[in-house]
Amino acid sequence: MAQIPTVTLNDGVALPRVGFGVFQVSPEEATEAVSTALDAGYRTFDTASVYGNEEGVGKAIVSSEVARSDIFLITKVWNDDQGYDETLRACEASLERLGVEYVDQYLIHWPRPKLDRYVDTWKALVRLVSDGRVRSIGVSNFAPENIRRLVDETGVVPAVNQVELHPGFPQTELRSFHEGLGITTQAWSPLGRGQGFLGHPVVGAIARAHDRTPAQVALRWHVQLGVVALPKSVTPERIRSNIGIFDFELTEPEMAQLTDIGTDFRVGPDPALFFDMS
Ligand code: A2P
Repeated sequence: MAQIPTVTLNDGVALPRVGFGVFQVSPEEATEAVSTALDAGYRTFDTASVYGNEEGVGKAIVSSEVARSDIFLITKVWNDDQGYDETLRACEASLERLGVEYVDQYLIHWPRPKLDRYVDTWKALVRLVSDGRVRSIGVSNFAPENIRRLVDETGVVPAVNQVELHPGFPQTELRSFHEGLGITTQAWSPLGRGQGFLGHPVVGAIARAHDRTPAQVALRWHVQLGVVALPKSVTPERIRSNIGIFDFELTEPEMAQLTDIGTDFRVGPDPALFFDMS
């Protein structure tokens, strides 16, 4: 079984360098997929209240033989629950659904700058750490200006920012902004939802050269960039093979070729537009 190395976050908490995502997975499927992933060696599980599957994820974690302390559980406060008191309540509700005493990481799912409550929401996350309900806090889909504001107004730097990131959308500028503040980048949809860039000839050629799958090449690219990828799959064979990425290395030219595929393969909403809708 794969042993996944960890990265130490800016708050001292250790995060495995690859995890498992469950976006658009039903609660029943989530229990099944998370159990398979635990058996395969995954220890990080990324859900969100809006995914509607926290119960399913929690069930697999609670019934597993793997110690709770060896598992890194991430969930997120949804847009409608932003605000100090609302967020404290939303976290309690998530813990209840998950069936756990604490989560390892709690993230603000989207900044919603027009609502202008993300600073209060962030203050609630800081409180949740001191209350022992959460070990580490971060954000998701935040732009540099949103992060700067959190730091200016609270002095607390997020441990992570979880954003869409894969070879077809490499987020080069954002990654370097994160590095400047010691923020670890987490990648949602690191496989581009299994479409688009995975079929790119450059990915195919590199995969053949290493006798690996295109998904393994993409996930290895994340690891070598220092990005924590959270691939989703409900297919046992893929769940197992996707973490077989710690026994080969991409060369520098291969890394550069992958990063240069282009930025045309975005699969999720642009936060700049989602701000208006949310
Ligand atoms: P499935 O869940 O049916 O196995 P992302 O993590 O980028 O959002 O991608 C998730 C999508 O990619 C899912 O549709 C998943 O399908 C698919 N997927 C997961 N692993 C692989 C793989 N190794 N090869 C191809 N597609 C994959």
